[in-house]
Amino acid sequence: MTEEKNTIDFGFKTVAAEEKAGMVRGVFDSVADNYDLMNDFMSMGIHRIWKTTLQDRLAPRPGQCLIDVAGGTGDVGTGFVKRANEWAALNRDATLSQKPPAHAFLCDINHAMLKAGRTNRDNPYREQLSHICGDAENLPLESNLADAYTIAFGIRNVTNMDNALKQAYRVLKPGGRFICLEFSHPITKSFQKFYDEYSFKAIPWLGEKIANDRASYQYLVESIRRFPTQEAFATRISEAGFSRVTFENLSGGIAALHMAWRI
Ligand SMILES: C[S@@+](CC[C@H](N)C(=O)[O-])C[C@H]1O[C@@H](n2cnc3c(N)ncnc32)[C@H](O)[C@@H]1O
Repeated sequence: MTEEKNTIDFGFKTVAAEEKAGMVRGVFDSVADNYDLMNDFMSMGIHRIWKTTLQDRLAPRPGQCLIDVAGGTGDVGTGFVKRANEWAALNRDATLSQKPPAHAFLCDINHAMLKAGRTNRDNPYREQLSHICGDAENLPLESNLADAYTIAFGIRNVTNMDNALKQAYRVLKPGGRFICLEFSHPITKSFQKFYDEYSFKAIPWLGEKIANDRASYQYLVESIRRFPTQEAFATRISEAGFSRVTFENLSGGIAALHMAWRI
């Protein structure tokens, strides 16, 4: 990243920092209608397993408030309230189950993605979800609000990720949990080679065939390569003020969960 010169990576291109948000918005305007379908095709459904692991680590409970940033079509926010409701149903005698239902704020910079989520699904949890159009770097939400903050496949697209991490810290209550699910870097060289072949050839091709949009999926692959390593990203999370920062590789490092606490 070359933020000090006021330029930044957009995939393998270097662009003026102030242009990146508009370019990212263009990508997600373009992919919104096919986003859920393409996710299943590209990852062969594996993104669902990663999101289940994220929910396992979150352990949602009644009464909790989640802010899911870059929430897109709403997988993580919906999964959170669903899990909390299931827990309440299974633990009717527990004091915690007397708390009000869990709530999730889905915040995304892109109207088209939020709208696609609402239109594509007949979501039985909609009363427990609030949709907010806003930037991860300047969240339109009060400080010390949430028990948990999540961002799934979003932080890579943000212009200045350190600003987004500071905002995550701000909106969490003391004792709140931060979890970021993001594409990352395979942990062995041989797997990296195979993964490069697949992603640079198959993903733009699938984007062209299924969504008629090769360029957006080329950006996706390039932006993944530009993302910091697991260790480097963990350092940035600590620098934003978080404590007990850990990460967990998923599928050999294709993705990673970074987790931390606001103490
Ligand atoms: C790859 S999608 C992920 C959506 C969802 N979290 C999921 O896991 O399916 C990335 C999302 O990040 C959003 N996004 C990009 N830059 C953002 C920003 N600066 N602030 C908030 N959302 C942003 C995009 O609009 C898009 O919906």
